[in-house]
Amino acid sequence: MISLVEWNDELILGVSMMDEHHEKLIGILNECYRALMLHDHHQELEVVMNELRDYTHYHFETEKKLMADLGYQESAGHLSAHDKFTDMIAEFHARFAEGESLVAMDVLQFLQKWLVGHIKNTDRAFATFVKEREAA
Ligand SMILES: [Fe+2]
Ligand SMILES: [Fe+2]
Repeated sequence: MISLVEWNDELILGVSMMDEHHEKLIGILNECYRALMLHDHHQELEVVMNELRDYTHYHFETEKKLMADLGYQESAGHLSAHDKFTDMIAEFHARFAEGESLVAMDVLQFLQKWLVGHIKNTDRAFATFVKEREAA
């Protein structure tokens, strides 16, 4: 199966909620990619794009709640990064609605790169904090 990005060990942070959510998100991005590659993709893409928006929202809210519960000091920057990603998803929806499939593909590639970078850096830092708290 064609994938935009493979789930791999480098993306595992050791906090099971985050790892489960991230694997699911990567899976949805790959579904968006596959749908976009289909010749007649309109309906399928709409379904997976809505799933991407809704699941991203759910995931970000879950991380936000965990940050608040644990009193994470670095939450402001992390949450504004989430807002940026949410804006990009809205852009992806808008581009697609305007019928710009090629632009939508560019945006999708950007989303994928952003998400991988976010998991490896920003989320990893938070996961390290979570694990330290759990160990304490
Ligand atoms: Fe995350
Ligand atoms: Fe995050």
